[in-house]
Amino acid sequence: MSRGGSQRALVLGLVWVSGLCVGAAWSQSSQRDAPPDKPSERANCDPGQCGDAESALDRAAAHPDAPPRGERLEAPDTSPRQGLSAAWADLRLLGLARAWDELLSAPAPGALGGPHLGASWRQLIDFYDGRAAFQRVFTAAEGLGPTYNDTSCANCHNAPNLGGGGADIDHGVRVHGPPWTGGDAMGLRKHAAPGFKREVGVGTVARLRSPPLYGLGVLDAIPNSDLDALADPDDRDGDGVRGVRGYRNGGRVRRPARFGQKANEWDLPTFAAGAMVDEMGLTNRLRRDARGDHDAVADPEVSDAFMRRVQAYVLLLGRPPAGATTDVSERGAEVFERVGCVGCHRATIGSGTHRVRGAYTDMLLHDMGPSLDSGIKDGVASGAHWRTAPLWGLRFRHRYLHDNRAATLDAALAHHQGEAKGASDRYRALPPEERAAVRAFLRSL
Ligand code: HEC
Ligand code: HEC
Repeated sequence: MSRGGSQRALVLGLVWVSGLCVGAAWSQSSQRDAPPDKPSERANCDPGQCGDAESALDRAAAHPDAPPRGERLEAPDTSPRQGLSAAWADLRLLGLARAWDELLSAPAPGALGGPHLGASWRQLIDFYDGRAAFQRVFTAAEGLGPTYNDTSCANCHNAPNLGGGGADIDHGVRVHGPPWTGGDAMGLRKHAAPGFKREVGVGTVARLRSPPLYGLGVLDAIPNSDLDALADPDDRDGDGVRGVRGYRNGGRVRRPARFGQKANEWDLPTFAAGAMVDEMGLTNRLRRDARGDHDAVADPEVSDAFMRRVQAYVLLLGRPPAGATTDVSERGAEVFERVGCVGCHRATIGSGTHRVRGAYTDMLLHDMGPSLDSGIKDGVASGAHWRTAPLWGLRFRHRYLHDNRAATLDAALAHHQGEAKGASDRYRALPPEERAAVRAFLRSL
């Protein structure tokens, strides 16, 4: 079916199911006004009565710091239930009603900021519903803070549209490496609720942009073994490019990680749950606040249902669509390969059904040399270690590198030192028209 055709089918389908919802709502008017996202929602649900009481989420919550990779925090099962009232009880249908609003303004599957092309019905509903959760603005009375960076995910991830990065560094965050930890990273929160103290950095303070989130779900699905195979910590092939896996320590478990520009979180659902706490002070069943959350709102401050909606959104947010190519950009792609950019920005990663083309990353950490050294360590990452930035969607970015310091592509490449020095030197030694071809290629991504 063409894209237009499948969109129409989507809309018609939603009209049909929304009709079902409205009918069900009339028959269940007592539930109609119940706020869907309150933590009390699950507390009211007796063991065994909650459809997904034994879900991966519950198992993971029993060990908040170590959800085993592979036991993915799936959205609740959607298998058909008996009768309309049971259907209405299904949060997914509540989600549909919310998704309806979203659908009218949201990008279509495959478009920038839309869900994956080829997403199932179930996933489309989860995506559009999750997109609404991503924009939910919290207040202190609902658990925001007491210290926080912003009031919704969308406030930081919105350029050029929802799910993207921050338009400027002010929408990023500051981290600091306090002397007493030996320079290990801690996030600093910009704001404090009335009566609470703002956090002030002692020691080195560095800034991190809010990176775009498009397509991270497909990078999440790549098996660890494929990324392990790309790492070359001892530089066995002698090309000067090492590449190491990031790690996150959780309880007694040390797990390979890939998310965050320091590659310090093992999967996307856990990163999203962490962002709720770290950026918004919203405790949840997966992540407590390491500093303690001393406001008056009982923990966890967001329900599992809310957390799943946000997690589903980031998992289903599609890759940025590729731009138009020209003869020049195609020549640029060859030069990009020849000078060794692909040593880190790999055109293809993963294997089998999880092969990803066109992300131009290896999801590994590289030592980028002194000029990109933030002075702050994070897990195995030294101050100069950064995860290879995926280059897909680069044409939508106007500033480059982890702290948005570079205003031009050439400036970004001048900061490529350390393991990237060879490729960067070869690029800068190229004749001007070949450099221009590489830039044309980068702008086609
Ligand atoms: C105050 C701004 C801010 C808010 C609010 C915010 N983020 Fe982020 N986000 C960032 C920054 C900065 C980073 C980069 C962190 C790093 O590099 O370690 C980031 C990184 C991420 C990543 C990892 C990206 C990658 O490339 O690995 C995900 C996923 C993410 N955020 C999701 C969310 C979700 C979900 C929410 C809401 C619960 C949220 N963010 C709220 C600023 C923000
Ligand atoms: C040794 C690994 C390595 C090599 C080789 C390498 N890069 Fe990078 N590249 C990185 C890392 C790591 C970052 C992220 C640095 C940061 O965020 O501060 C990055 C960032 C970038 C960015 C900015 C992306 C963004 O989102 O801001 C561009 C553009 C880029 N590289 C292009 C190139 C080109 C062109 C070449 C070849 C001349 C190249 N890189 C070679 C590792 C590498």
